[in-house]
Amino acid sequence: MPFDTVFLDLKSNKPIGMPTETVYGLAANALSNEAVSRIYELKKRPIFNPLIIHVTDISQAEKYVIFTDDAKKLADVFWPGPLTFVLNKKKNCPISDLASAGLETLAIRSPNHNLAQKILKSIDFPLAAPSANISESISPTKAEHVSSAFPNLTILDGGPCTQGLESTILDLSGKTPSILRPGTITSEKISNILGKDINKVQNKSKTIKSPGQLKRHYAPSIPVRLNAIDIKKGEILLSFGHHNIKTENELNLSVKGNLREAAANLFSYLRQLDSGLHKSIAVMPIPKTGLGIAINDRLTRASF
Ligand code: TXA
Ligand code: MG
Repeated sequence: MPFDTVFLDLKSNKPIGMPTETVYGLAANALSNEAVSRIYELKKRPIFNPLIIHVTDISQAEKYVIFTDDAKKLADVFWPGPLTFVLNKKKNCPISDLASAGLETLAIRSPNHNLAQKILKSIDFPLAAPSANISESISPTKAEHVSSAFPNLTILDGGPCTQGLESTILDLSGKTPSILRPGTITSEKISNILGKDINKVQNKSKTIKSPGQLKRHYAPSIPVRLNAIDIKKGEILLSFGHHNIKTENELNLSVKGNLREAAANLFSYLRQLDSGLHKSIAVMPIPKTGLGIAINDRLTRASF
C-alpha cells in the first residue's frame, strides 16, 4: 500500500493498519475525537477502555505527559521498543479525551518498527493505536490478519511482527512502578534498570486499572485447555519444546523450547488452530519465568 494513501487517510481522520514490532495497530490521529471514535467503532471496543498513544521519541512524549525520572531511565534503554508507560497527563494535554477514556493518565510508547517510525516522523500528531483486531479476539501479527477483520482498511504491510506479543504496560503514575500487562520487557529487566523492586502484574484486583486486564481477551472461538500433558478426542495440540505426547494434530510454538520464538508464533498459531477444523485446543505447559509470564498471561485470557 503506497504511503500516500496512508497519509491521506490519517489526515482525513480515518484509521489505518500500522505494523509495529509487537502486533499490528489500528492507528489514527490521537488529537482528533472524530478519528479516535472511529477506532472504537471499528474495533467494537467499549469506550471505557483507553488506547495507547504512539510517538517517535521522548521529546514528543514530553508534550503530553509528565515524563518522570524512572520513565527517562527506562526509555533511554528500551525506546523505541515494546514498553508502554502510564504517566500523568500534562495540564491542557491536547490528546483526545476519548483516547484516554477520560483518565488523568495516558499510556504512551514509541514503537520499534521502521514503517511505524516513518509514519510518525512524517506527521505532526501522535497516533492512538490499539491492536488491530475486533475487541476480545486474537491480536494480529501479520497484515493479512488485519485485512481479514477490516477488509476496507488501508494497511501498511510491514511483514510479520518480530515480537508477537503486545507491549509491556508499566504504570509510573503512582509511588511504586507496577506492571499492568506483562510483555517481552520483563519485570526483572525493568527492576534492573531502575535498581528497585516493582509491583508485578496482579490479575486478581477487582478495580481494573488496565481494562486490557479483563479476563477474557485474545480469545479463539473454540475452548482452550491449558497445561495439557495429554491430548483428548477432537483436540489439537499447541506444543512447546520436545515432548512425548503422541499426536499428528500439532503445532509446536518452539521445537527448541525458545520463549522468544514461542511469543512470536503464539497469536498466529492460535489463529491457525481456530480455523474451524478442530473442536478445542490443548496447550502444553509453558515455563512461568521471564517472557513465559507474558505468554501464560495471554494463554490464560484466551482460555476463558
Ligand atoms: O504492543 C502494543 O501495545 C500494541 C501496539 C499496537 O502498539 N497496542 C495495544 O493496544 O496492545 P491495546 O489497545 O490493545 O491495549 C492497550 C492497553 C489496554 O489494556 C488499556 O486498558 C491500557 O492499555 N491502557 C491504556 N491507557 C491506559 C491508562 N491510562 N491507564 C491504564 N491502562 C491503560
Ligand atoms: Mg488489544
